[in-house]
Amino acid sequence: MLKDHYCGLLRKEHVGREVKLAGWVHRRRHHGGLIFIDLRDREGIVQVVFNPAESPEAYQVADEARSEYVLWVRGIVQERPAGMENPNLPTGEVEVIAKEAKILNPSRTPPFYIDREEEVDEALRLRYRYLDLRRQRMKENIIFRHKVVKFIRDFLDAKGFVEIETPILIRSTPEGARDYVVPSRVHPGKFYALPQSPQQLKQILMVAGFEKYFQIARCFRDEDLRADRQPEFTQLDLEMSFVDREDILQVIEELLTSLVKTLTNKRLKFEPFLRLSYKEAMERYGSDKPDLRFDLPLFDITEIARASDFGVFRQVAEEGGVVKGLKVPGGAGFSRKQWDEMAVRAKGFGAQGLVWMAVTSEGIKSSAARYFTPGQLEAIISQAGASQGDGLIFIADKPEKALDVMEKMRLFLGRHLGLANENELAFAWILDFPLVKWNEEEKRWDPVHHPFTAPLDEDIPLLDSAPSEVRAKAYDVVCNGWEIGGGSIRIHNRDLQEKIFKLIGLSEEEAKAQFGHLLEAFEFGAPPHGGIALGIDRLVMLLRGESSIREVIAFPKTQAAVDLLFSAPAPISERQLAELHIKIMEKEQ
Ligand code: AMO
Repeated sequence: MLKDHYCGLLRKEHVGREVKLAGWVHRRRHHGGLIFIDLRDREGIVQVVFNPAESPEAYQVADEARSEYVLWVRGIVQERPAGMENPNLPTGEVEVIAKEAKILNPSRTPPFYIDREEEVDEALRLRYRYLDLRRQRMKENIIFRHKVVKFIRDFLDAKGFVEIETPILIRSTPEGARDYVVPSRVHPGKFYALPQSPQQLKQILMVAGFEKYFQIARCFRDEDLRADRQPEFTQLDLEMSFVDREDILQVIEELLTSLVKTLTNKRLKFEPFLRLSYKEAMERYGSDKPDLRFDLPLFDITEIARASDFGVFRQVAEEGGVVKGLKVPGGAGFSRKQWDEMAVRAKGFGAQGLVWMAVTSEGIKSSAARYFTPGQLEAIISQAGASQGDGLIFIADKPEKALDVMEKMRLFLGRHLGLANENELAFAWILDFPLVKWNEEEKRWDPVHHPFTAPLDEDIPLLDSAPSEVRAKAYDVVCNGWEIGGGSIRIHNRDLQEKIFKLIGLSEEEAKAQFGHLLEAFEFGAPPHGGIALGIDRLVMLLRGESSIREVIAFPKTQAAVDLLFSAPAPISERQLAELHIKIMEKEQ
């Protein structure tokens, strides 16, 4: 090794020692006839002092060095002179007096500052990702991610799980997105699909008798991208045999709890994790992934609105819509301008309008108040659980729309009013998802999770009479408004599986064509089994307090699924196309 110490790890205990360091020039300044270079490596920076009286050659090298040059230094660690310590730097009590130095490689001037945490255009960061990753925050994110994955591996290994790799070139594994496909050269006109998740493979591994499997698995989904979605992402994928739901929840809860306590200073709000049914979550928070750091439940005044003289609300209620309300703690003191801003925000989230009320010492103040009787206003205050000083907001719309807007308003208020503690993690289980939902376009029932998810035993009789009321043995783990993971207990009984296929409109032939391999495997003694997958990118983002998973992925793609470093996707040569038996069609205008 050219170096025997990391720059960022030098401390007082190294004083007097000769060290060899190598890294990048973070910052350089001339001062009082000396040159000071902050030399940076993976672990951080240390100050190196170049004194012409100590070594004129080393001083000469330092004089030539510029930002991001790769520099090698041999020197002596010494305590910084009194008053010169830097308490903001872990190495701030020491410095290295250079005896010898070499420029190992010069550098072009970087397109953005690496020594400053300032906002840089994301496209530029992604184009020069290797420079972006030199920045401290990004470096810490990526190293933290390594620790998370290592913790998961060690934890599950100790619990008797076996890590097994599954193929990337496979056949379609529907998880609700479009597939990425790879043409076959040897089989003209045939394609592999990249896995949307190892779902079917891990179930087959249960049939194969591994009993406890996990994998840090790359998944590929061609779907609309957002802050928490990438076309390729990483899951902790896990499956267990001879278990019921509780066993899976326990393993994951213990894993997440100990991971958070070992690797972060964050506080867990719920130990054990809070549990909510899907129905409760939707009714209370308008979301199946509520931010539970604050309890600001939605309330419903549809029935009060129906009986009121408030035309807008009454009409919505009469047309099958709902009127949803949300308390704004302390909102009675808002100015008209603040309420107007709130309405603009709601419209931005898709609302047609927003009605507000202030609960004051003189009763309810609102332009809508006169359309309600005193009794109705009392009922509203009681539904809201409001007291004097609070504000109330209302949205009237179709049920799905009203819940969607109110969920967003709730999250906005949580942040805006400082209700969400940044240092807190509110993990919760959302249980009993519906098994199927009606697809109006295709006029059929679609699985909410996937077609192998088992219904609750007590709901099986409803499969024929009321499919929409059948609850699934499916669960999500959510935290601070993000869905972190999801899974289910699977069907291992052939008759039940056939019944579900029939319900979701898959004929025997279609089921065989899509899932024949899995169904056949199930005929050879499938054990009862179930599992879950956690989004590693989302988990790391959450634990690092980042707001996009792109900040915790070394080489992410843009929102338009482009890799700016490699300029992918890219055309391929005519020859490659011919080998793959592919002709590119002109884009239709
Ligand atoms: P699901 O589709 O819910 O379940 O995915 C599990 C978790 O993976 C993460 N995730 C994503 N992360 C980043 N970008 C994406 N495009 C993306 N899509 C999903 C989320 C999500 O909660 N096979 C089932 C699991 C099972 O049943 O065991 C599955 O993949 O954090």
